[in-house]
Amino acid sequence: MTDELILTRPDDWHLHVREGALLRCVVPDTARQFARAIIMPNLKPPVATVERALSYRDEILQAVPEGMHFTPLMTLYLTEQTTPEEIKKAAECEHVYAVKLYPAGATTNAASGVRNIKEVYPVIEAMEKYDLPLLMHGEVVDTEIDVFDREAVFIERHLEPLVQHFPGLRMVMEHITTQTAVEFVRSAPDTLAATITAHHLLLNRNAMFEGGIRPHHYCLPLIKRETHRQALVAAATSGHPKFFLGTDSAPHPKGAKEAECGCAGIYTAKDAMAFYAEVFDAAGCLDRLEGFASFYGADFYGLPRNTDTIRLIRESVSVPETIDFGGEIGVPLRAGGEVHWKVA
Ligand code: NCD
Ligand code: ZN
Repeated sequence: MTDELILTRPDDWHLHVREGALLRCVVPDTARQFARAIIMPNLKPPVATVERALSYRDEILQAVPEGMHFTPLMTLYLTEQTTPEEIKKAAECEHVYAVKLYPAGATTNAASGVRNIKEVYPVIEAMEKYDLPLLMHGEVVDTEIDVFDREAVFIERHLEPLVQHFPGLRMVMEHITTQTAVEFVRSAPDTLAATITAHHLLLNRNAMFEGGIRPHHYCLPLIKRETHRQALVAAATSGHPKFFLGTDSAPHPKGAKEAECGCAGIYTAKDAMAFYAEVFDAAGCLDRLEGFASFYGADFYGLPRNTDTIRLIRESVSVPETIDFGGEIGVPLRAGGEVHWKVA
């Protein structure tokens, strides 16, 4: 049994850190484990310009504890007002790494998203031209589509046409949740990759209803049935470079989740590497964790792999019931339970 893992320092290719006091609480959790993270732009109002991305980047850097090195990789929020000129500017900016597409209303703070993807094709064309990756929240929003089917319908209606229409565009389908997505990404050209969260690898949809409604297991895209979880584990542990780590850690105050209409998002950043190690360990594939967590994402984004390392030790550590979210209360994944790896 492997009791110690030394890995090239990993990166998180999909992360929400919010703003202000909450940001200052969550950034250190990520910086403790990861060298870099792709920062989601779904603030209110969204981070839609290079200028705003740069000031947001400064705010994140100020929250990195002394002695830690952490690089936020900024993204722009694609709106119907985004211009090809802004894309050019983003591509030329050394701190902006991608543009995020949210179908309007698909998830937390997605009201400014895109209603008709075809309408923004000229902007996507600019991304292809300037080689700036497009990241997608891959769900349709139509109320007549069953919530558990929205990812599969997105693939059919929007992703397939995008892949065909923009052969030179690098795209990431974020936080995939189904076997359908795994198969689609696998068989698509190398320009398409996917991130996988820890919670979609650890939980199936029963976790949302264990003895009652469990708001802290509610995220978007929703956690799916066990067969899909298994397909995600197989993809993540396959050693296929199209699949890499993206926590989608999405902090919301306790009160905003335990509400009549609770927010989507799970806070996993604190124990992210422990969660992924558990998954790879259970699958008997700990030797493949480094590729998934530390290599394939950097390779896809065309960035150098990190050169320093982190050490994970097999040790049970209790997860607090609640944590400080900057004056509010946060509830991390597995609150009150234990994780079985510790970052030394
Ligand atoms: C995210 C958030 O809270 O910002 N929520 C979530 O459930 N994952 C948004 C997102 O990535 O969908
Ligand atoms: Zn997200």
